[in-house]
Amino acid sequence: MRILIKNIRGLAGVYEEAPALLRGTEMNRLPVLENAFLAIENGKIAMYGSMDDWGGITDWRNLEVIDADGRFVLPAWCDSHSHLVFAASREKEFEDRIAGLSYEEIARRGGGILNSAERLRKLSEEELFEGALNRLHQVTESGTGAIEIKSGYGLSTEAEMKMLRVIKRLKEESKATIKATFLGAHAVPSEYKDKRRAYVDLILEEMIPAAAENGLADYVDVFCEKGYFSVEETLEIAERGSEYGLKSKIHVNQFNATAAIPKLVAAGAVSVDHLEVLEAADISALSGAKTIATALPLCSLFLGIPYTPVRDLLAQNAAVALATDYNPGSAPSGNMAMAVSLGCIKMGMTPAEAINAATINGAAAMEISDSHGTVTPGKKANLIITEPCESLAFLPYSFGRPAIERVILG
Ligand code: NIG
Ligand code: FE
Repeated sequence: MRILIKNIRGLAGVYEEAPALLRGTEMNRLPVLENAFLAIENGKIAMYGSMDDWGGITDWRNLEVIDADGRFVLPAWCDSHSHLVFAASREKEFEDRIAGLSYEEIARRGGGILNSAERLRKLSEEELFEGALNRLHQVTESGTGAIEIKSGYGLSTEAEMKMLRVIKRLKEESKATIKATFLGAHAVPSEYKDKRRAYVDLILEEMIPAAAENGLADYVDVFCEKGYFSVEETLEIAERGSEYGLKSKIHVNQFNATAAIPKLVAAGAVSVDHLEVLEAADISALSGAKTIATALPLCSLFLGIPYTPVRDLLAQNAAVALATDYNPGSAPSGNMAMAVSLGCIKMGMTPAEAINAATINGAAAMEISDSHGTVTPGKKANLIITEPCESLAFLPYSFGRPAIERVILG
């Protein structure tokens, strides 16, 4: 199957040879080729160019021609942080928060992650898969072409592996590219309440080996936060992960500054995620670092907590990604276009910075930059075609209703 998209008003994120990621001031540069065409062959980007140089088509066999007159084409979203596999929604907690309870208070009363774990353990693997596949369809239809999905609502070896097997099946069934992250250290399950060290040991000795040896995980994650896992435990789990070939992507500094970020950067974490509360030492550790700073604005919006200080990170030459954090507790939405809008509206990013954060840098935060995140010959043809519009800024401007007309995955 071949596709030709012609009369593209602007082909965005286009590079003959793409960088792996963008940082600091580079993030404000989004290369756009005006009045362009793009050819796709065997699911990959074959070539692109200006309509003025287009020689026409000689071989029309198996060719779908899309006339993108007045529309922009850009790389599909790369959502590098999600918890898309879960058993049930938690709108009761939403009402509790409206009534004045905080996320932490709800968690202390047995809600939150433990609530999700209780529900997930009872659900069959098949039902869990079906629910997740549904959500995956929703997010791919809204423009997501690659997504990281975490475990972390099982909190026992059996239930964590059940989640990871579901993610593996999603990888096999979906046209989207998926990375799996083991997040056994999401919360201490109630049966280990009075013996938390035993739970950390279970993660180290049983869960990580099982996840890695069965090829079920690409990364390891920890919820490094007061009341969840300490900096020392986080580093220990990340270290064990790396012994098993799993690099780390870590939830950190969501509600409290933890002093973990410089250590995680030094330990080679692929990304540190959330970062709503940052101190000067954290920002300087991320300055020029390989570790990507991932902001999750849908979570900030939904919980009413601070937004990641992205301008400070960019001023210090950090590489910033935007992701959804799609999960039933703190961000029940997988809408990347909305994350891009909030990046602009609430975090002061330019449309170019926000789109780069949601494409090329999201790809880097899943280590798939060689095949995703830009419009580059040889990369997977995961693309968004916008509605007719004057400029790409229309995308974040049109908040809450993605101005996306068509999504092509492979
Ligand atoms: O990224 N902070 C930790 N984990 C999720 C929320 C999990 C939940 O509430 O179910 C997050 O916000
Ligand atoms: Fe998360």
